[in-house]
Amino acid sequence: MSKRSNNKIYDFGDLQSQDDVRREFIANLSHELKTPIFNIQSYILTLLDGVDDENTKNEYLKKANRNVRRMIRLVRDMDVLAHLESSKLVLNKEGYNLTEQIDDVLEQVSDRIHDLNIKVIHDYDTSITRIAFADPERMEQVFLNLVSNAIKYSKPDFKDRLIKFKIEEFDNFFLISIEDNGIGIAKNDIQRIFERFFRADRSRSVKGKLGSSGLGLAIAKHIIEAHGMVIRVTSNLGIGTTFSITIAKP
Ligand SMILES: Nc1ncnc2c1ncn2[C@@H]1O[C@H](COP(=O)(O)OP(=O)(O)O)[C@@H](O)[C@H]1O
Ligand SMILES: [Mg+2]
Repeated sequence: MSKRSNNKIYDFGDLQSQDDVRREFIANLSHELKTPIFNIQSYILTLLDGVDDENTKNEYLKKANRNVRRMIRLVRDMDVLAHLESSKLVLNKEGYNLTEQIDDVLEQVSDRIHDLNIKVIHDYDTSITRIAFADPERMEQVFLNLVSNAIKYSKPDFKDRLIKFKIEEFDNFFLISIEDNGIGIAKNDIQRIFERFFRADRSRSVKGKLGSSGLGLAIAKHIIEAHGMVIRVTSNLGIGTTFSITIAKP
C-alpha cells in the first residue's frame, strides 16, 4: 500500500473517532440536562395540583430552585469549556500571591469544611510570600474545583477527614499538591477522571451530588495546560487522593 492511501485510512479513522466523541458529548449533555428539567417539572406539576401546606410548598420551590441552579452551573461550565476547547481563552497572566490565593479559596469553602469537621493542614511555611505567574482568576477556578472535590469526595461517616496542602519550590515553578483522605478513585477510573462528564460510579451516590457535573477536572486540565503546566493525580480507593499541579514563577 502506498503512503498516501495509508494516510487516507488514518484520516478516516480520525474523523470517525471525532464523530464518536461529538455524539457521546451530546448524549451526555442531554442526559445531564434531563435530570434537573424533569425534577423541576415534577415540583411545578405538584404545586399546580395544589399544595395546602405552606412549608411543603416552600420546600418544593426550594428544591426546584436547586435544580435550576444545577442547570445554570452546567451551562456556565459548558460555556467555559467551549471557550477553552476552541482556544479562545485569553490568559491574563500576572504575578500574584499564591499563598494568599489558597487562603482565599479555603475561605470560600469554609462553611462546608466546618460542617464536615475537616482538618486543613498547610505543609509549608505560611509566613513566606510566594509569587506565582499565571491567570489568577483561572487558577482560582482550578483550586476551587480541587478543594471542592476533596470536600465532596471525603468519606461519609468518617471523623478524621483532612485536606493537606503542600507547596514545593523549584527553579522555575511551584509544585502544589492537595491531598485528601477521602473515598479515593478506582484504578480503572483514574485515567478517565479528566474526561468531560466523567464521574466514578461511587461518586454518583455521594451526598451533594447536585453540585457535580463531571466537568470540573476537564476544565482544570485545560486551564493548567493552557498555561503550559501539568496536573497529575495519584489515588488509592478507600484511602485517599492527591492532585498535584505546577504553576510558573515570574
Ligand atoms: N478528591 C477526589 N476524591 C475522589 N474522587 C474524586 C476526587 N476528585 C475527583 N474525583 C472523581 O473524579 C470525577 C470527576 O471530577 P470533576 O470533573 O471535578 O467532576 P464533579 O466534581 O462534578 O463530579 C468525580 O466525579 C469523582 O468521581
Ligand atoms: Mg468537581
